[in-house]
Amino acid sequence: MLSFMKYNFDEIIDRSHTAAVKWDGLNEVWGRTDLIPMWVADMDFATAPFVLEAIKKRCENPVLGYTCKPDSYYQAIIRWIKERYGWNIERGMINFVPGIVPGIGMAMNAFTEKGDKVMIMPPVYHPFAWLTERNERVLVTCPLRWEEGMYRMDMDCFRQQVKGCKLFILCNPHNPGGVVWTEEELNEVARICHEEGVLVFSDEIHADLTLPPYKHRPFAMMSEEASMNSVTFMSPSKAFNMPGLTASHAIIPNPQLRSRFRKYMDACELDLGHVFAFLAVEAAYSNGTEWLDQCLSYIQGNIDFADSYLKAHAPKIKVIRPQASYLVWLDCRELGMTQKMLNDFFVDKAHLALNDGAVFGKEGEGFMRLNVGCPRSVLEQAMKQLVEAYRHIQ
Ligand SMILES: Cc1ncc(COP(=O)(O)O)c(C=O)c1O
Repeated sequence: MLSFMKYNFDEIIDRSHTAAVKWDGLNEVWGRTDLIPMWVADMDFATAPFVLEAIKKRCENPVLGYTCKPDSYYQAIIRWIKERYGWNIERGMINFVPGIVPGIGMAMNAFTEKGDKVMIMPPVYHPFAWLTERNERVLVTCPLRWEEGMYRMDMDCFRQQVKGCKLFILCNPHNPGGVVWTEEELNEVARICHEEGVLVFSDEIHADLTLPPYKHRPFAMMSEEASMNSVTFMSPSKAFNMPGLTASHAIIPNPQLRSRFRKYMDACELDLGHVFAFLAVEAAYSNGTEWLDQCLSYIQGNIDFADSYLKAHAPKIKVIRPQASYLVWLDCRELGMTQKMLNDFFVDKAHLALNDGAVFGKEGEGFMRLNVGCPRSVLEQAMKQLVEAYRHIQ
């Protein structure tokens, strides 16, 4: 472990039999349990200790009654976003949502109708397509361009495809590619969507995991038009490893959009939250800087390790180094396998459970997504198994 580390990210924590999707879901998805789970996007590190302490403290009072959102919860969000991104938001813009995917689904229902067109940029976080289709909207795609080993937005395609759409769902930063979009890209999206009257949802769940020297840019900060024409989804869930608490927020600067969203939420009281939600968010944002810096540096170390190990021992599997987050896009196209062969190779030969790249859209064929949010020793073992399997096919 690095000498300046105060927190122990090397610790191996047994998550089996905790109903963890990543661990206990192996059997359901692959019908076996002998795989190292490197798929679902949570980390195998302990949740940030100050979040756990806040929950324990609350449990000292034995009444888990109905819970309101204290002002300190809103102030913690406001402070964090200002300090981290220089974005000044106000309390009234913050809307609790019970998770980002549910929040996007709710906002999609609040702002669009059945049959409306919704655009995404695949390969992209798969629930964007699921939400669109399951809510009976029409999916429109504008695939990303592969350029010098990284994805970029295809602005010509964007201009064409976005015409007639009601909504564009942006993944900022990008999952699974790990891209931190440039100011030019975000500005162009803001300008075109404003001109075409297309609302933007900016999913910024991975923002706090942006790896130095890259800097996250909230979409709404691009311009007044971007701010008035967008809903930004944020949460401490990924960065502080607390997604099981389903505590997120939709930031809506435009008062008209806000009242429409609230009306939708209020109709079924969808924003009640639960007894631990608000205190956990407040604890993460009020104490999080040092822990997060160390976590990011550990993740960076894991990315460096996977990259150099595979370069040395399995050069046909290329690590696309993420600019944000712990999800590593592996370019396996040089192996020359069909997607089925590629999946079988990872499962049957390497005994690893990764996300199939094609889940993120057909553009993800030839890729696999590796989660490196785990102790280094686990990653080392996983890479050893991968290289062992690789040797057999060379
Ligand atoms: C881009 C993106 N949005 C949303 C989520 C999930 O958010 P939640 O668990 O709050 O619904 C993930 C999880 O991997 C993600 O990568």
